[in-house]
Parts: sequence; C-alpha cells; structure tokens
Amino acid sequence: MKKAVRVSLKAIGILILLLILLALVGWWYVNSTFLNFEKDYAEKTVFNELTIDGHTFLDRNGNEKLDIYEDNRKSTDERVADALSQMTLEEKIHLLKGSGINSALGRGDTAVPGAVGTIVPTPRLGLPTIYLSDGPAGLRIAPKREGEERTYYCTAFPIGTLLSSTWNTDLVNQVGTAMGTEAKEYGIDVILGPGANIHRHPLCGRNFEYYSEDPVLTGFIGAAMINGIESQGIGTAVKHFVANNQETDRNFNNAIVSDRAMREIYLKGFEIIVNKSQPWTIMSSYNKINGTYVPESKDLLTDILRDNWKFEGLVMTDWFGGDDAAAMIAAGNDLLEPGTKKQWKALEEAAEEGTLSETAINTATRRILKLVMQSKKMQNYKYVNNPDLDAHAKITRQSAAEGMVLLKNEQVLPIANAENIALLGVTSYDFIAGGTGSGDVNEAYTISLEQGLENAGYTINKKAKDLFESHKATNEEAFVKPEGLDAMTNPYFPPRMAYSKEDLADIVKSADVGIITIGRNSGEGGDRVEKDDFLLSDTEQKMISDVCSAFREAGKKVVVVMNVGGVIETASWKAQPNAILLAWQGGQEGGNSVADILSGKVNPSGKLPMTFPVNLNDHASNANFPLDGEPIDFIKMLTASKEEKPEDEQIKNKDYTNYEEGIYVGYRHFDKAELKVSYPFGYGLSYTNFNYSDLNVQIENDTISISVNITNSGDLAGKEVVQVYTSKPNATIDRPVKELRTFTKTKNLNAGESINLNFQIPVLELSYWSETTSKWELEKGIYRIQVGTSSRAIKLSEDVEIII
Ligand code: BGC
Repeated sequence: MKKAVRVSLKAIGILILLLILLALVGWWYVNSTFLNFEKDYAEKTVFNELTIDGHTFLDRNGNEKLDIYEDNRKSTDERVADALSQMTLEEKIHLLKGSGINSALGRGDTAVPGAVGTIVPTPRLGLPTIYLSDGPAGLRIAPKREGEERTYYCTAFPIGTLLSSTWNTDLVNQVGTAMGTEAKEYGIDVILGPGANIHRHPLCGRNFEYYSEDPVLTGFIGAAMINGIESQGIGTAVKHFVANNQETDRNFNNAIVSDRAMREIYLKGFEIIVNKSQPWTIMSSYNKINGTYVPESKDLLTDILRDNWKFEGLVMTDWFGGDDAAAMIAAGNDLLEPGTKKQWKALEEAAEEGTLSETAINTATRRILKLVMQSKKMQNYKYVNNPDLDAHAKITRQSAAEGMVLLKNEQVLPIANAENIALLGVTSYDFIAGGTGSGDVNEAYTISLEQGLENAGYTINKKAKDLFESHKATNEEAFVKPEGLDAMTNPYFPPRMAYSKEDLADIVKSADVGIITIGRNSGEGGDRVEKDDFLLSDTEQKMISDVCSAFREAGKKVVVVMNVGGVIETASWKAQPNAILLAWQGGQEGGNSVADILSGKVNPSGKLPMTFPVNLNDHASNANFPLDGEPIDFIKMLTASKEEKPEDEQIKNKDYTNYEEGIYVGYRHFDKAELKVSYPFGYGLSYTNFNYSDLNVQIENDTISISVNITNSGDLAGKEVVQVYTSKPNATIDRPVKELRTFTKTKNLNAGESINLNFQIPVLELSYWSETTSKWELEKGIYRIQVGTSSRAIKLSEDVEIII
C-alpha cells in the first residue's frame, strides 16, 4: 500500500517537472518567435538609437541630427529614393513586416499602448516607428496606461452601417476629420478602416463595420470617410480587400466568385474609393478568391489595383493573413502585419535564394517608405494626447441622429404631449454603442436611451425601470460584459425580459407612451444565426405583442427602437407598434441621438443602405452562406495549415463558399425576382414630405447630366436623400432591373422651400463586365434614368439614348 503511494507520488513529481519543462520551452518559443523576435535584429545591427519615438535622429556616427527626410524642399518621391538608396538589403527586408504580436496585443514597449501594429523603425537612417490602430468606428487604443492616473479614451462614433444610412458624404467627411484628429493627437499614424466589404448576406458578423449591399453607396461614403481622416495627415487602411463576406473560417475560406460579380459588386466599391480618395493603404483580406489567398494574388493586388485603377499606396495584410511571405511581397502585398519571425526568416531566405527578387523588395520598401515620409511622425508632429473629445461628442451625436431610419410612423412621432415614458426591454437601459472585436472602441461612456430621454426632459416610468433593475439583479452574472478576445467568442446577450399582465397594467396606467428596445450585437470572429438573432426570440415576440395590446387597449401608443448592428426580421411584427425607429448602434451618444429624433429636435432623414427581407432565405446568397454561427478558433487561426484540403474533405460554406448568386446581391436580386420585401433598399420616412418635379436629362460629352427639383411640401424642415438609378429596357444581356448610380442629400429644407439638384453620370458607368471579352462593355440604346426615394419608389424617370 505504502509503496503504491510512494510510486504514485514519484510519478506526480515527474509529471510536474515535465509540465514545468514544457511550459518553459513553450514560453521560450512564443517569446522568441512572436514576442521579442525584434530583439535579434537590434543585436545584429549597429544602431545609434534604438527607440525612435521622440524623433531624436542621430546620424550614422551618432553625432548630428539627420534631417534630410524632414526637408520639405524635396519631394516625397525624392526623399523616398534617397532613403531607399541608403538601405541595406537586410534593412529593407526588416521593413516589410511589423514588429510582431506584442504590438498586435497592444502591449510591450510601444509608445501608444493599444496600437495593434507597427511599421518598424530604421534608426540608422532616422526613420521612426509608425503606429497602426483599429477603426473603423473610432480610434481603438488602450484607455488606461500602467502607472498613470489619466485616461486615453476615444470617441465611439456610429457604426459604418449607420454612417452609410445618412447618405450624407459631407457629414461622413466631418466624422472622418474628427477621427483623424483623434489619431493625430494620440500619436497614431494609420487608422485601420474604413471597412468596404459588401453586405452579401445579413448574417455576416461584421456587416456593422461595412456600409451597404450596394457598391456605389459603399464607395461614395467610404471615400468621404477616407478624405476626412487623411485631411489630418493620418493614413487609412481600407479593408478587407476583397470579398471577405463571412467570418466563419475567414482565414481559410475560398470564395468562389465570377469575374462579373467581382468587378460589378465586390471590387466596385473599392474601385470608387481608390478613384475618389486614393487612400494611403489598403488591407488585403484573409480569404482566398478562386483558390488564391488575396494577399498572394498578383491579379488583384498588382494587375487590378495598381495597373488598372492606379492605386498609389501600399497594401498590408490583415493580421496574420496569407500563407507564403515571399509570394505576398511578390504579388504586391507590401507589408506583413503584425509580422512574425517565421515570415522574416522566410523573406531573408527567399531573397538569398533569389526566389524573391530585389526589384520586388525595392517596390514594397519604396511604398512603405512613402507612407513613412508622409506621416506626422516624420514631420515631428508633437502630439499631446489631448484631442477635443467634447467637440467630437457633438459630431457623433449629430451624425448618429442623421443615420437613424424611421421605418414606420402612425402619427405618433415626434412624441407630443407625453411626459412619462415607459422603457421596455433590456437594451433600453443597456444601450449598445457598437459591435465587438477590433471594430469596438474604448469610449469613456455610452448614453443609454434612458439617459438620452432624461436629458431631453422626459420622465422615465418608475415601474418599468424597477422591473428592469430587478431582472438585472437576478441575472447579475449574465450582465457582466465579456472583454477582449472573450467578447469575440461569447457575444454579450443578457436574458430578455417578459412582463406579466399585472405589471403591464400598472405601467400603462402611469405612462403616456411605451418604447420597446430590441437589441442585437455581433462582431469579428463569428457570423450571426437566424434563430433568436435574425428572428426575434419568443420572449421578444411576446413582449412586443403583450406591450402593444396593453397600450392599445388604453388608447396609448408604442414605439419600437431597434438598437441593432445588422438586419433583423421585421415583417412578422411590424404591424403591432405605432412607430418603428431603426436606431442602429449610434456610438457613445446613441441615447441622445435617439432622443433627438423621438422628440422632434431632429427630423429623421436616414435611408436604408440594404434591403430588409421578409424571410432570410429570400436572399439569393442564403443557399451558400454558413448558417451555424460557429465562433472563431484562435489556435486554429494561428497554427492550422493553410494548404488546400483534399476536395472530399472540404466543407461547403466553411472551406469554400460558392457565390452562385453572382451579381444578384441585395435589391438587385429582390427586384429581379420580384420578391416582396419588408423594407426596400433606400427606404426611410421623414416627419415632412417632399415633392419631386422638373426632371431634365441631357447627354453631353459622354456624361449624363440630370437636374431635378425637390420641394419640402410638409410642415417641418427636413432633409431628403435623392437617389438616381438607371435601368436598361430591352437589355441584350442579363442585367439587374435597376442600379444605383449616384445620390445626394439636400440641405435642411424649410417647409415650402425648393432646391434644384444636379447630378452627373459618366456614360461609361452604365457598362457591364463582360466575361467574354474580360472588359467593361457598354450596350448601346435606350437607358431609363430614374429618380426616387427608394429602390421601390421611383418618382420621376426619363429615357436617354446612348449611341456608341
Ligand atoms: C481584423 C482587422 C483588424 C486587425 C487588427 C484583424 O483580426 O480582421 O480588421 O484591423 O485584426 O486588429
């Protein structure tokens, strides 16, 4: 007996020793491969200065200040050429990858904690570290720093989908300018955003970061955002180029897409962005397209992006994206982020063996150097960590209000003669500012709907609030928000509330109006699911019907506020409430912005950037989309082989996704298939009405010029979004019924005020991508120019003839 105990004690001892040894080896590996791999470089290279954040550049002898790159009398290209000519091959290769996961985790000795990536310094030449931080809903840096009392909060602006719902490029430009200023004042050089992927399917977990199901709206809004941010001397990384339309297995998924769908839908938004804003950088996506990882695709990154579209900036990978480091550089993916030791070694070996040419290395280095030379760091800009957060709070409040979409209003809004408001549903009190993952922002506060209404002078019904408080107290743990990586795999979704008949009777007695909030959250690393997410849960359905009938019986009204990041089902319940406001996720001032609309301080003018279908499977893409919401597996993401699996082992919609619907995404499909929708693309109500008149269409010099008159025919001042679609009657090829070509938002028009609007559409924009000639082709003949308030409400149209 004793002996057995001794033996097993010994075994346990050996096991513990082995485990310690394993942990040590593991730590050594992680440390030398991912964390401190930059140290090797420091030891190998004779530096005069190692950390170069304060910009005290010394020359190669460590004596004088080297300032040739700051000399503005020389052009950027000259300074780049000069720096390039002085770099050793080793230094060039070193520049092609970031400094590793330490910065990716926002840790380590970076000057700006929370930055997720760097362009490494070349101290010998006085080239500083460049910091990259997430977007796109605001700057994402760590709000607190070790040993410091003060905080480094950033403004949480509205999610991308809300911004595109404004259809207001000037406003989005202002948001971008504010975001760029924040980055500049916190020492960040490049914001990793905006997101320009197409909403191919409503369940993509990152749709909230993206703008629309339509490439023209995506392109116009994206370019406005980029021009705003870059006006501050801060770069952007437009992401995720391209066809990254699902989160499930995003690091391995092969999107099988036709050339026509690529050109007309998935690439088109990026193409408009490059044309209108020439961004400093583009981030390649994780996925493969037709068998090739995007960062390794010369076709996409060099032939299309550079040769075809004349993109002048650099391309960086998404974090740990791609497989073969040398192939990425050769294809035109200039910068590998956040960079690994393995990639560094692979590049050195490929250069030595001659499989990666010096020309390719020089091209990538030149593009990186250009960004460095353009940066505020290079100009020695002295940031003082003090952006004007109060001014930015005002901008976010205004922009959020302008992107909220009024879906239904039976003479209940703006709320008049009501003092006591009953707030129902968890998210009325626990309002959601934005999505999760890298698109989340560390803001100082979020104004809930409750606070917003209080700020606007309303009284919040006590009984309804008490019920929420006791619901929260009984489910305490479920109300703790997961953070960081945990939030990506465990989305925050506290249990919903049900109301008893008696409680509702009490509430209805003491309240003038009821507001139900339906909340949803999603984010990077996982796609949404149909049950209890796209569809309302049984509890939510019951809440809506119980609340609506209790208020209706008492002759009182109910408003539903949708605090969501993506499309949910509305057709089955929309008849019940008297009004529905799609508030999206409006950033840190969201509750105030909703109150601005509900109270009538702001007249709603948002329009849907996507279709709200009746059923999920009405979407043509539904047959080829992962529907199980499998969350990301980080270990697999970092370690699994990226080699293609044998065909019979490949799982549909995970290993590969067939974009069988081709160009029929969003309204292009619903219109073609003549399907009933719950709310069409471009739809949104106002508290006033607009009259459309005097459409005039001319063709001059290969441009279609359109003018139209808009009159505010109602009683309240308001803005209107005017949308111009074109269609091709008697088309000789398969085409969508209509396509958005341009749009504008009017200024605030007073009651009775008119405005004349002018639009220009280059004739070539009517072309389609021919897979026979591999070119854009223009059909001649009659085109219908349609001006409307949504894709299904065309007010005026006129035909023009294109003679080629
Ligand atoms: C995301 C990118 C993000 C990057 C850095 C990736 O996981 O896909 O959008 O910019 O991480 O945080």
